[in-house]
Amino acid sequence: MSTAAIIPAAGFGVRLGGEAPKAFREVGGESLLVHAVRGLRAATAADLTCFVIAVPPGSEDVVLKLLEPYVGTATLQVVAGGTERTDSVRAALDLVPTEGIDCILVHDAARSFVPVAVIERVVAAVRSGAPAVVPVVPVTDTIKRVDPVGKVVDTPDRSALVAVQTPQGFEPSLLRRAHAAEGLGATDDAMLCERLGVTVQTVEGSEDAFKVTRPRDLILAESILAERRS
Ligand code: C5P
Repeated sequence: MSTAAIIPAAGFGVRLGGEAPKAFREVGGESLLVHAVRGLRAATAADLTCFVIAVPPGSEDVVLKLLEPYVGTATLQVVAGGTERTDSVRAALDLVPTEGIDCILVHDAARSFVPVAVIERVVAAVRSGAPAVVPVVPVTDTIKRVDPVGKVVDTPDRSALVAVQTPQGFEPSLLRRAHAAEGLGATDDAMLCERLGVTVQTVEGSEDAFKVTRPRDLILAESILAERRS
């Protein structure tokens, strides 16, 4: 049995700015997408045999050529992403083989520097029987719920809150059922599973698995990479 990785990389990265879609922005001379693929490949205990990447429509051939050198013996497929992240994941999921895969990881290209230990923890938890697994880190800011005009409604207890990262891991048939249902408003794949009444398990994430979102995140990414290369 082995693992398949879906990488939604079709976002344009409006908050990041720049000319190229976010996944093609470079850190240390290589694109975020290459870093993400290389990171997943380094997680040897995950037994990754299949990559499906959702990319901006029209860039399929370029990405196929770009990533071929990095996937080793795993298969590589590239598909046009959709309007929302959920649409991109669904398009990729349609290409994941239905046989021989016991875990599907969904990993944001923008979380390019997730440590191997986090990836392997997620896969191990799925293989131990958890149908849906997410890596998490504690929330450091106080979070408030606000109404549409910006008035504070309440302040949830921070000790009960976590920030959720990727890769998220799933038992394959659950992820397929989750994506067959209405995906409106879902910001991650675990949320679709929660809507089916499935309990989602958390494992320890890492600050290095932050999502490159704004320009200053590129500086943090450069410094993580420099630290790892030193
Ligand atoms: O926009 P956000 O940063 O939340 O996107 C998270 C991940 O989902 C990124 O890797 C982005 O490329 C991907 N995405 C996608 N298709 C979309 C929107 C985002 O694959 N329509």
